[in-house]
Amino acid sequence: MKTAPDSRPAVTPTRDRVRELRTVFLVGFMGAGKTSVGRALSRRLGLPFQDLDDRIQDREGKTIAQIFRESGEAEFRKAETAALRELLTELSSSSRVVALGGGAFVQAVNAELIQESRVHSVFLDAPVKELLRRCEEEQKERPLRQNPKQFRELYAKRRPSYLKAAVRIDTNGKDVDAVAAEVACSLGLE
Ligand code: S3P
Repeated sequence: MKTAPDSRPAVTPTRDRVRELRTVFLVGFMGAGKTSVGRALSRRLGLPFQDLDDRIQDREGKTIAQIFRESGEAEFRKAETAALRELLTELSSSSRVVALGGGAFVQAVNAELIQESRVHSVFLDAPVKELLRRCEEEQKERPLRQNPKQFRELYAKRRPSYLKAAVRIDTNGKDVDAVAAEVACSLGLE
C-alpha cells in the first residue's frame, strides 16, 4: 500500500518562533484592565510584562498626559508606533506579556505590525458602562476620557477594531486573576 506523502513541514519550529508564540498582546478600551490583567498574566506565565505606555513615557521622557498637552494626539500616535516597532524587534529574543494603550490597536499600522508578528492578540471586553465606572474609580489621568458621552462614542467607534484581535475575553464581573487564567487557558499557554 502506498503511503500518502507527508504534508508536515520538514523543519520543526525554531526557538524564536516558539518564543513569539508565547507573546500576548492585550488590547481593549480604557478601563478594560489591560495593565492589571497583563501583570497577573505575566506572573502566571513567568514572562516579563511590558506596558506600551510606560515604554513611550521612558522613550520620550514625558508622561502620556504631557505628550498630549504639549504635542497633541497625532504626535502621541507617532511615538506609540515607534515604541511598538522597537518592542516588536525585541520579541525574537524574549517573549512578553504586553498591555497596549486603548488607541494603539485601533491604528491600522499598529494592528498590521502586530498581526504580522505572529503574537497572540486578546481583546479584553466589558460593557461600556463598566469601563466608565472603572476609569472613574482609577483616577488615572487619561487625556481622551473627557465626559461620559464622548467616552461612549469613542468606544462605539473603536469596538470593531478591537474585535479584530484573535481572541475576545469577557471581563465583566470577573476578577483580575480569573481573567488572566482565562486568557492563558484560551490560548493554550498552560
Ligand atoms: C489612550 C489610552 C491610554 C493611553 C493614551 C491614549 C486611548 O491608555 O494610551 O491616553 O487612545 O484610548 P489606557 O487604555 O491604558 O488608559
